[in-house]
Amino acid sequence: MDVDAIRRDFPTVRSGQGIYLDSACQSLRPDSVIRAITDYYENYPACGGRSVHSMATKVSMAMDDARETLASFFGTDDPDCYIFTKNCTEGLNTAAYGLGLGRGDVVVTTDTEHNSNHVPWLFLQENMGVRRRIVRSDAEGRFDLEAFHKAMDHDVKVVSVQHASNVIGCSVPVKAVTEIAHDFGATVVIDGAQAAPHMPVDLKRIDADVYCMSIHKMLGPSGMGVMYGKREVLERMRPLALGGGTVGLATYESVNLAPIPDKFEAGLHDYAGIVGTKAALDYLSGVGMEEVMRWDQTLMERILSNLEDVRNLHVVGPRDAPSRGGVFSFNIDGLGAHDIAMMLDSMAGVMIRSGMHCAHPFYVSRGIDGSARASTYIYNTPEEIDVFTDTVRHIAETFGD
Ligand SMILES: Cc1ncc(COP(=O)(O)O)c(C=O)c1O
Repeated sequence: MDVDAIRRDFPTVRSGQGIYLDSACQSLRPDSVIRAITDYYENYPACGGRSVHSMATKVSMAMDDARETLASFFGTDDPDCYIFTKNCTEGLNTAAYGLGLGRGDVVVTTDTEHNSNHVPWLFLQENMGVRRRIVRSDAEGRFDLEAFHKAMDHDVKVVSVQHASNVIGCSVPVKAVTEIAHDFGATVVIDGAQAAPHMPVDLKRIDADVYCMSIHKMLGPSGMGVMYGKREVLERMRPLALGGGTVGLATYESVNLAPIPDKFEAGLHDYAGIVGTKAALDYLSGVGMEEVMRWDQTLMERILSNLEDVRNLHVVGPRDAPSRGGVFSFNIDGLGAHDIAMMLDSMAGVMIRSGMHCAHPFYVSRGIDGSARASTYIYNTPEEIDVFTDTVRHIAETFGD
């Protein structure tokens, strides 16, 4: 992977606007994505799937193109199974409310979920009598397949797990989870927000029923997500929002819903976001997802070894690079996570995230107040990592306990 060439494609990197280590929240965007968005606004800013004039037809074709790109990027052959959402959260909520769960049905999740794959199920428990089983991870936060297997029985209607954690980076063996869940007749929903940007994801092989992702974490535009679902699952799933675009025909008294994907995409789309999505996937395909994964690992190895001997620094989660994806969460004795983040920014222009990272139950259950989190991507360099780790070491030695 030619990281120098990649860096030349990113405007904020080119103009030297600091060291960006917050890609687990939102990635930077290359020129090609920005150009695709601008091209839409400058040259064909009409709506797709409605009007039949030439400009609108161009938009409709661009939407089809984006869905086809998604299908080939994720190894499936039905572009209509990719629903555009505003983020991963919207996809997960669509699945939670749309799968028709009722009183007594059991949902299995894990104790490391992001709030977006936790709160919707909790809400169903509180308001609809759905029951939850939370599979406990090991001391470092790693998924426990045996504990998961034990949690399964024929009352389980849905298994909803993250593919990779935004705190500890660990991935869940989603193919094995899906196989076990299907043996019990359960529908499998995967939160792919942190996995899809950082590793090859073959949805045909994984065989999950629903897979949700955040396009803004994979070089795409802000506020873009995608929910993939198997055709038969999407056909039986209820949409979260209804209105224009979602119906075949409505009279004063009746309505019949449009086929997928339309029934899930109520109202006017984010067309600029959709063309930007295609550009982002094209860019990642050009780099290669195996390469992306290897690069994150190389950078993570460097972070872990550079900071190994900092006595008052505590890593949240495992200390081996392959388990961590591109996510390094840590605390320093005597310092709050926000203090660490602000010092890194003001002392060395290093941008990281701090807090509980929307994984509140994980932190609360382990009695941790939160953590600082640095997250890497294809445009980060070993030299940037050294600036980050040197500054962390300095902060720990100078201001920590
Ligand atoms: C694991 C995980 N799931 C879900 C989400 C929510 O993603 P979005 O902001 O696209 O809704 C995030 C965002 O950080 C995440 O890390």
